[in-house]
Amino acid sequence: MVDTKAHWEQVYATRKPHEVGWFQAYPEIPLRLIAATGMGKSEAIIDVGGGASNLVDALLENGYSNVTVLDLSAAALEATQARLGAASNQVTWLVADITRFVPGQQYALWHDRAVFHFLTDAADRRLYIEAARSALPPGGHLIIATFALDGPAQCSGLDVVRYSPESLSHEIGTGFALEESFGALHITPSQGKQSYTFCRFIRK
Ligand SMILES: C[S@@+](CC[C@H](N)C(=O)[O-])C[C@H]1O[C@@H](n2cnc3c(N)ncnc32)[C@H](O)[C@@H]1O
Repeated sequence: MVDTKAHWEQVYATRKPHEVGWFQAYPEIPLRLIAATGMGKSEAIIDVGGGASNLVDALLENGYSNVTVLDLSAAALEATQARLGAASNQVTWLVADITRFVPGQQYALWHDRAVFHFLTDAADRRLYIEAARSALPPGGHLIIATFALDGPAQCSGLDVVRYSPESLSHEIGTGFALEESFGALHITPSQGKQSYTFCRFIRK
């Protein structure tokens, strides 16, 4: 069995943020989806499995002032903190396994790009969704991006579950209403093409 935490610590200890397949120079789609919620800029956002993504940088630049980044890998968060410098003091950092996460507060928005799809075990998916349900009040936004049905079967050497908007909605369950969904192509640093499904749900 894979030691998931050791796997991700090793990834971020050995590869620079711009060298990983999921690197994007600018998180244009997540920012657009977050803006589409109409949420206030001081409302709480959590980037689940944020890794070394520059979404947090872009959120701060766009005036979002209440941002938490959670990841299994301390090395990933340290890379992001080093990049942000003094601005990292404005962010809450959590090293945690999302399937064991007990939210200490509520969030207006939960963002996950390329994390939920690693949960190949149904029990882990249930725990993740339970955490999201307790973290988001009614009206809260849940944005999830996974590999699409025609996307890769693996990421970072780990198996993933691929989703359509319909199968992801089914998995997320009746506590959430699907507001918006679409497919998008991600071009990896080595020019590979990866098909993603993006969904934005609202907590009922
Ligand atoms: C493919 S990367 C995506 C990173 C980031 N969301 C992005 O779009 O650049 C997956 C991330 O999920 C994190 N991760 C994997 N399993 C996790 C878990 N159970 N709990 C929290 N983070 C996890 C990894 O450490 C890694 O940073």
